[in-house]
Amino acid sequence: MRTIVSLPGDGIGKTVLPEAIRLLEAAGFKANYVHGDIGWEFWQKEGNALPKRTIDLLEEHKIGLFGAITSKPKDEAAAELDPSLHDKGYVYFSPIVGLRQHFNLDVCISPCKAFKGNPLNFIRQDGKGGYEEPEVDAVIFRQNTEGMYGGIEWTNPPKQVRDALETHPKMKKFKDVPSEEMAISTRIVTKKATERIIRSAFEYATKFGYKSVTVCEKPNVLRETSGMYLKIGKAIANEFPDIQLWDTNIDAQMMWLTKNPENYGVIVSENMFGDIISDGFAGLVGGLGFACSANIGDEVAVFEPTHGSAPKYQELKPSIVNPIAMFLSACMMLDHIGENEKADRIRKAIAEVIEEGKVKTYDMMKLRGGPDVFEKGACTTQEMTDAVIEKL
Ligand code: NAI
Ligand code: MG
Repeated sequence: MRTIVSLPGDGIGKTVLPEAIRLLEAAGFKANYVHGDIGWEFWQKEGNALPKRTIDLLEEHKIGLFGAITSKPKDEAAAELDPSLHDKGYVYFSPIVGLRQHFNLDVCISPCKAFKGNPLNFIRQDGKGGYEEPEVDAVIFRQNTEGMYGGIEWTNPPKQVRDALETHPKMKKFKDVPSEEMAISTRIVTKKATERIIRSAFEYATKFGYKSVTVCEKPNVLRETSGMYLKIGKAIANEFPDIQLWDTNIDAQMMWLTKNPENYGVIVSENMFGDIISDGFAGLVGGLGFACSANIGDEVAVFEPTHGSAPKYQELKPSIVNPIAMFLSACMMLDHIGENEKADRIRKAIAEVIEEGKVKTYDMMKLRGGPDVFEKGACTTQEMTDAVIEKL
């Protein structure tokens, strides 16, 4: 039997992850779940939100199902550390970013598929006085480890960096700017990682029947980095003659987001642009209650809803939050380990509950979150799970 590392984390992560496991069991997926410590509690108690024992568990079992964690700014984090650990050099870092870096989880996948009947789906005017609801089904492949979010940046860059940059003719216009008044972020793109993300996008399109892969970058301006994406995109497209290669610019893509989102299938992009595109498309199909993702490396893969720990709602009993993003993340896990049939069955059950429209979490009713949402007709987190299990 397969072992899954369960990483509930903080806040509502602790609520939605057990619900996903309950659903997986109801779908007949048999696994051992081992608990991995991760999140704020472990920062406070141990000065490490991602303890080594958790890394070891993932190293051993390869598959993680993750809820959400709480992150706080540097000073607040330091203040909440156990007094016995103060001034011992502990520095907070986000454990999910830590996981991506440690295991080189460089391929981030965010499917954004509209469920029929979801009241949160995007609609637009049809030009004839009515409305139409595009059938959005886009899957965003985001390079997860380098590019604009690679973390190589400076305010007041050291002299060697400044000198190196001065070798570029375009630096002339900054020659009189003192380094203290300068901030630099880099966008480093490598051939190997770019090939991996683009090839993963084409393989996914093949496996799940999408007809196009769009490289969404900005090669007319970012001639080198976006240029590399497009060049590699063209080369890899040759290996997949049945799938069309499209290329768009990130700015125009955001304009087309509302104009023709239904035309796009798989979209692939660098880290920051991929972040923007995935949030943009997620907004068309219901937002945080529906946005799932996978972080995939060569050996280890971690599946997680896009949302955070929603501290505002963590104490509410019963819980009001929507577990569907977590369920869909669990389905991605099933797809990854070859349990596609179970994943499809769960997705179909979710689709039926949504289309029927009887059981809705507060976000699906566009209510303000709070303990009073139930009297307004919203269901609890657990009732949503029950409804999906019943359809199964
Ligand atoms: P958030 O995603 O926790 O919440 C944003 C808004 O969406 C809130 O109004 C929240 O109540 C609502 N929401 C979130 N998930 C929902 C769900 N499943 N159903 C219904 N409504 C839902 O983001 P926020 O408030 O910016 O951050 C809260 C904490 O989470 C912070 O500490 C942040 O650092 C952390 N965070 C963690 C992430 C992760 O674990 N990957 C991702 C994003 C934020
Ligand atoms: Mg984001």
